[in-house]
Amino acid sequence: MQIRLTLVLLIISLLCIAGCGERVVDLEQVSPEEKIVIKFSHVVAENTPKGLAAQRFADLVKERTHGRIEVQVFHNSTLYKDGEEIQALQNGLVQMIAPATSKLSGLYPQWQVFDLPYAFEDVNAVHEAMSGYIGSQLCDGLKQNNMQALAFWDNGFKQMTNSQRPLVNPADFQGLSFRVMINSQVLKKEFERLNAHAVEGPFNDLYRALDSHEVDGQENTMSNIYSKNLYKVQPYLTLSNHGYMGYVVLTNQKFWAGLPVDVRKTLESTLLEVTEWEREQAFVLDKQSLEIVVNSGLIQVHQQTETEKKQWSIALKPVYLEFKNLIGTDMADYIEEMHTQ
Ligand code: LMR
Repeated sequence: MQIRLTLVLLIISLLCIAGCGERVVDLEQVSPEEKIVIKFSHVVAENTPKGLAAQRFADLVKERTHGRIEVQVFHNSTLYKDGEEIQALQNGLVQMIAPATSKLSGLYPQWQVFDLPYAFEDVNAVHEAMSGYIGSQLCDGLKQNNMQALAFWDNGFKQMTNSQRPLVNPADFQGLSFRVMINSQVLKKEFERLNAHAVEGPFNDLYRALDSHEVDGQENTMSNIYSKNLYKVQPYLTLSNHGYMGYVVLTNQKFWAGLPVDVRKTLESTLLEVTEWEREQAFVLDKQSLEIVVNSGLIQVHQQTETEKKQWSIALKPVYLEFKNLIGTDMADYIEEMHTQ
């Protein structure tokens, strides 16, 4: 009996070994030595153009490299917040970030060119600047600080919100306080020119600052106003499109240069594709977010007229002159020329 049982077990084992001859290679199983992890940190919600694109990039890269490269996305400032992420990238603690262009202004004042009020007529003008002279000038400079620009991503034009009154004329800003993105002197000056008070603050603290009335208002894109519930604590919205907010996707230069060539190529081509997709998402989400916010009935919406736009532009014009040298006369002139074309 025992001999028979031993024989049966032996036959089963032999069958198993024979079956293993056809080894199934699980491509998801990459040895830890081979695996490359890219930490991608950002400060916005997952359902925003940047949040969605970062995740899509991670998913496509995983699929295309069969798990050899893992892009780990940390959204909503869960890993690093404003004021921390650029340094974390330079120190190699994360490998990718995508800050709003303004936030680089602490290191490079020239990046404030994108903050100039009413600088760009539409998103095509922004793209032209990003892919042309302005973009290449700005990106070249990053290398001295161990950073490399990989792509420009969109969000959209900024709108004004506040808790006190409708913002129709420049005089309506008088005495109010507004949160502005960190590091940009241009944005601060913009509000000072309107006789308002500008308060720099990180994005992750914005909802609290508005809800607790620490500041009266802020400027932001519709997708951020919607996804961060800012419209629930700000009763007035002015659709002013007075400035553009976009992102630069950055990597740590040493890390990037050290990647195997095939890996780098896959990452670059995937990013190119995701950038196109991201721009479409930004366009769609901007419209959708506006619709949701307007239909919520929680916020009074004012659409700026052409005459009002002219008044705001005149009030903000001195900002150009003040920052021309800091930003670089060549870039400031480029912007001015765009207006006269
Ligand atoms: C902000 O700080 O308001 C934005 O830059 C956040 C973001 O990244 O969209």
